[in-house]
Amino acid sequence: MSSPLAPQFAFAACQHGAEAVLKTDLAKRAPTWRPAFSRPGFVTFKNEQPVTKLDGFQLSSAFARTSGLSLGSVEGETPAELAAAVWQLPEVAAARATVRLIDWHVWQRDVVAPGERGFEPGPTPASQEAEAALRAAAPEDFPEVAPGPHVTPRNRWVLDVIVVEPNHWWVGCHYSASRPACWPGGVPPIELPEHAVSRAYLKMSEALWWSALPASRGEQVVELGCAPGGASQALLDAGLLVIGVDPARVAVELQENPLFQHVCRRVSEAPRSLFKEARWLTADMNVAPAYTLDAVESVVTQPGMHVRGMLLTLKLPEWQLVEELPNYLARIQSWGYRDVRVRQLAFNRQELCVAALRSRGQRRVQRESRRRPRQRADDRHSTPPKPLGE
Ligand SMILES: C[S@@+](CC[C@H](N)C(=O)[O-])C[C@H]1O[C@@H](n2cnc3c(N)ncnc32)[C@H](O)[C@@H]1O
Repeated sequence: MSSPLAPQFAFAACQHGAEAVLKTDLAKRAPTWRPAFSRPGFVTFKNEQPVTKLDGFQLSSAFARTSGLSLGSVEGETPAELAAAVWQLPEVAAARATVRLIDWHVWQRDVVAPGERGFEPGPTPASQEAEAALRAAAPEDFPEVAPGPHVTPRNRWVLDVIVVEPNHWWVGCHYSASRPACWPGGVPPIELPEHAVSRAYLKMSEALWWSALPASRGEQVVELGCAPGGASQALLDAGLLVIGVDPARVAVELQENPLFQHVCRRVSEAPRSLFKEARWLTADMNVAPAYTLDAVESVVTQPGMHVRGMLLTLKLPEWQLVEELPNYLARIQSWGYRDVRVRQLAFNRQELCVAALRSRGQRRVQRESRRRPRQRADDRHSTPPKPLGE
């Protein structure tokens, strides 16, 4: 008979290099949780008291890709040895006796920053190997788990097995209460399609999926800072009509697309009359957040504009800019966007994504089958997508 689950540790995945900012953010939001074991891309925390209210537990931070309760860690020489040790952990037995684990997420902490040396977050050979070993050693009474990358349905308990080092795996569990909690390691299974002209395609696909932006096919979106055009392609693939503003050249694929209009100017020089029909706005400009917000404000607060929602990339050339985040979000709210969320997307680099809607009531439950972006067909990074630059 196993003892009841009352974990005192939690784990979170973050971008490689964002550990310090995650710890600082959580020190403000959840001060009873103190940083413990940590490696780039993976941080654990210890609470003053064991957690007794398990349902819905998460470490809430824009920098936590995913999080959960920690069940301990195992060491070993081979994946088979490590997998056997996972299933033998008393804490895993306690978790199975306390909550109904029906799935597993096996993932590796990021080894470099997204977009660096061709790396993109997602399944890796090491996580694939670990998953195969975990499956081979799984107890017979563990529910059947679909092979390959998958999205867990909402509101299920999931076992997390994290490859921290090849010979050191961390083990935890979480409840899939949010959209990112349904994705292994908080990384949506999205592939960069052949036709994408920049990796910003991944970023925009993830932003659309995470935010569940309630845009309908045929509606118009303005993209500020659109060149060379990967994000615009993701918007076009989602069925939107795109007006892209950027003084730089857009890729020929975009120039030839009749559903895309390039306004080859800086935002300050673009005639506002062009944007009158736009219902959505996205921005991804390589300038400081205050300038991005100046440009966005100058468009959405124009008389006659009816922008219902926005997806904004805020660049963080220095991590200290995070301290200004509450001011940035308050500024966006002051334009009439009351539902403002922020997240460092898995495919973001040193930047954040802000999703802003006029009201929370605009959010809609996504019909996953219709609105989900193109998923990875390959389930490992044997041939990582070529970095095309942003
Ligand atoms: C990170 S890139 C955008 C990537 C693009 N979203 C894509 O999908 O490929 C940043 C862009 O912002 C543009 N930019 C910077 N300042 C701008 C301004 N004031 N008005 C319009 N575009 C601007 C730059 O020319 C550059 O092409």
